[in-house]
Amino acid sequence: MAFELIIFIVFLVIIVVLLPLIFHLKYPELRWRWSDVDFKTITFPRNFMWGTATAAHQVEGDCINNWSEFEKKSRADGTPNIKGNQISGIACDHWNRYSDDINLIRDIGVRYYRFSVEWSKIEPQMGAYNQDALNHYSDVIDKLIDKGITPVITLHHFTHPLWFDQLGAFEKEENIKYLIAFSKKVFSEYSEKVKYWCTINEPAVVATQGYFTGIFPPGKQNIKLTCIVLKNLLEAHVQIYNEIKKMKNGLESQIGIVKNINHFDPWRRYHIFDWALALFSNYIFNKSSINFFKKGEFRVWIPGIAWVHHKNKSACNANDYFGLNYYSHNHVKFHLFSKEFFELKFHSDDTMTDMPYTVYGEGIYRAIKEVSVLSLPIIITENGVADMHDEIRSDYINKYLYATMKSIQHGYNVIGYFYWSLMDNFEWAFGYDMKFGLYAVDFKNQKRELRRGSQAFVEIVNKK
Ligand code: BGC
Repeated sequence: MAFELIIFIVFLVIIVVLLPLIFHLKYPELRWRWSDVDFKTITFPRNFMWGTATAAHQVEGDCINNWSEFEKKSRADGTPNIKGNQISGIACDHWNRYSDDINLIRDIGVRYYRFSVEWSKIEPQMGAYNQDALNHYSDVIDKLIDKGITPVITLHHFTHPLWFDQLGAFEKEENIKYLIAFSKKVFSEYSEKVKYWCTINEPAVVATQGYFTGIFPPGKQNIKLTCIVLKNLLEAHVQIYNEIKKMKNGLESQIGIVKNINHFDPWRRYHIFDWALALFSNYIFNKSSINFFKKGEFRVWIPGIAWVHHKNKSACNANDYFGLNYYSHNHVKFHLFSKEFFELKFHSDDTMTDMPYTVYGEGIYRAIKEVSVLSLPIIITENGVADMHDEIRSDYINKYLYATMKSIQHGYNVIGYFYWSLMDNFEWAFGYDMKFGLYAVDFKNQKRELRRGSQAFVEIVNKK
């Protein structure tokens, strides 16, 4: 009996004391002394790809898709899906004003523009393509090239047509074929002029926000579906890549996934439950996808809830570059005796952006390091700050670009950076309240004005 008790105590000590200590040493929470950093030292290689990004639904206006439907509805408890019952509506009217907006990009010396094509406008009914919509994007591409700006197209950025939604969207693996057909159509139209392609924007965000938190359409809360949708989106990327690589211009094109890295650190570094939650969240959100591209295997096991195991060896060769989006770093706290076991925490001295994200420049360095295991060129396809009063934008830009520069100096292969976003726009569940734009937009009259804080970006981009 005494022996068993000793074994039990030793076991407990290992779990409760030793494991947190090992994790603490293995996964340090990187912190730099920013007061010692001189932002004037920020420089980038000559051929670095400087860009800015938008997504169709957030800027174009007049979209009829899964999001526009979601915007009209409320959750079970009566709270509207979009803050303050806002709808995307005409958004920034970018559909009509794209020509002026392209001039705005050129005015600040930026040479790449990442935008998405709206599936619901191009293929409003299954298999029926709208020629006006195809012509529209063709004009956008021509205008960009004419102004010396390289187009970067995202094929799927959170939205899809209603007919695809009614089929069950990415809940069903057999639906992937529709996105492939659409992607092939778009690629055949534009690949003569467009070299850079992003397939799917942030699969883990689509899956977790749509099926775990429920703050994105379809607003479900189902952990098993979260894992299945994530798996299907990753698989869709691989199949799109394989298909369009075989097409004319395929081999010359640069095609990649866009993945958001969202860090989870334990709130209490001595606490085994906080560690378990942090490691688990990192695994689901980040590592399971990275593993898929590294090993050709997607594996999530949540005892009693979900067992999703999927193999596709060609995933290991399904990216020409890795599109990295980076915004957020979270501390997670585990609550043992509550249904709401998962809590996101912030330190009182953290600088908060208007989104529930802190300013943590070191995070982008960590994210770059994390995805570098894939040995692919990395393009930061999105990074930016919501800052209505323009108080922290320049500091944010300096910190995140300093960290990006450091990563390059330390040997990581980062070849581009796209600021999110060109202009204020419809920020999904937050509506128009979040001001990410280099340009502020006055939504009463659609006037755009470069923000003072954006100057930090303009200066670094144009540094000789
Ligand atoms: C998305 C953008 C979004 C941005 C800021 C990214 O997750 O790709 O569409 O606006 O984050 O929240």
